[in-house]
Amino acid sequence: MQLNGYGGPEVLELREVRLGAVPEGEVRIATIAAPVNRADVEIRRGHWPVQRADPFPYTPGLEVLGEVVQTGPGVHWPPVGQRVITMMQRLGGVHGERPGCYATHVTVRAESVAAVPAELDPYAVAAVGLAGVTAYEGLRRLEIRPGHTVVVHGASGGVGSVAVRMAEAMGAEVIGTSSRSPAERSLLDELGPRSVDGVLETLGERTFADSVAVLRRGGRLCLVGALTGPELGLSAWDLIQELVLTGYSTENLTGDDLREDIAMICGWLRDGTLTPPPYQVVPLAEAARAHRLLEAGGHSGRVLLVP
Ligand SMILES: NC(=O)c1ccc[n+]([C@@H]2O[C@H](COP(=O)([O-])OP(=O)(O)OC[C@H]3O[C@@H](n4cnc5c(N)ncnc54)[C@H](OP(=O)(O)O)[C@@H]3O)[C@@H](O)[C@H]2O)c1
Repeated sequence: MQLNGYGGPEVLELREVRLGAVPEGEVRIATIAAPVNRADVEIRRGHWPVQRADPFPYTPGLEVLGEVVQTGPGVHWPPVGQRVITMMQRLGGVHGERPGCYATHVTVRAESVAAVPAELDPYAVAAVGLAGVTAYEGLRRLEIRPGHTVVVHGASGGVGSVAVRMAEAMGAEVIGTSSRSPAERSLLDELGPRSVDGVLETLGERTFADSVAVLRRGGRLCLVGALTGPELGLSAWDLIQELVLTGYSTENLTGDDLREDIAMICGWLRDGTLTPPPYQVVPLAEAARAHRLLEAGGHSGRVLLVP
């Protein structure tokens, strides 16, 4: 699926592209599932323009789970037949240095993939995917301990729905918000000041000031998204409470980080510590419909494109 310009979901076009030889050090993955991310929608709309002099044609998609079908010269691992997952690392995204994952085949550097055990349901692993890595890395930065109270914003979305499950598995009491949360009372009204230990912030502008105000002294906030805008308000009287405000982006993910996080996530899925979020499967050729689902809001969990 390619974009030849920014616009509505209809600008996603199905194209046949001839596959070349696999370059040295790279592997070709046959797609089993390519999850849709909010960033794909923002890029398609032109809100987050592709940072290339000549952005089109552009293949969206930040992540793919599939099977290695070909390896280039010099690749020792993964072998053909290995089930793998890969994400970001300049695949699609605003850098778009490589064609993204809305495709039947995706070619990446061998060191940028992580193994996925064959006995796990590939759709379940893909549904956790990039959202799960983001949630896990964000929650790690909150230093959650059993009994902590944690706010997860956007709890019905891709990142939020996985984060709720993970934070509960870490022993936290979780308070989730979504656009369906009552608008008449703010988070601060609802919870009161200095009432929670951590906040996973996905919304940014609309919620940030309250997110900071509800943190207990020494509490931690990790911002992984700013869905409602980038301008953040902050009171000095909050910061003086020795709060830790940080952030995380999978833009900085390395192959080693990915393998560590995916091994952890797959272990949790295998032993039932983590259940996958709800997901919908949509044919790759109907990527426009998948984007409409995300844009309409109100869906739960993740949308997976399958060839
Ligand atoms: N740091 C990273 O590496 C990384 C990786 C992945 C995603 N992200 C970012 O994380 C954010 C969430 O991504 P996602 O994939 O989880 O998105 P998503 O699946 O579309 O979910 C968005 C969530 O936010 C809620 N929401 C949307 N607009 C809202 C508003 N105005 N007020 C309150 N809640 C609102 C939605 O609630 P409803 O369902 O009720 O509408 C939903 O729960 C995005 O900003 C994305 O770019 C960052």
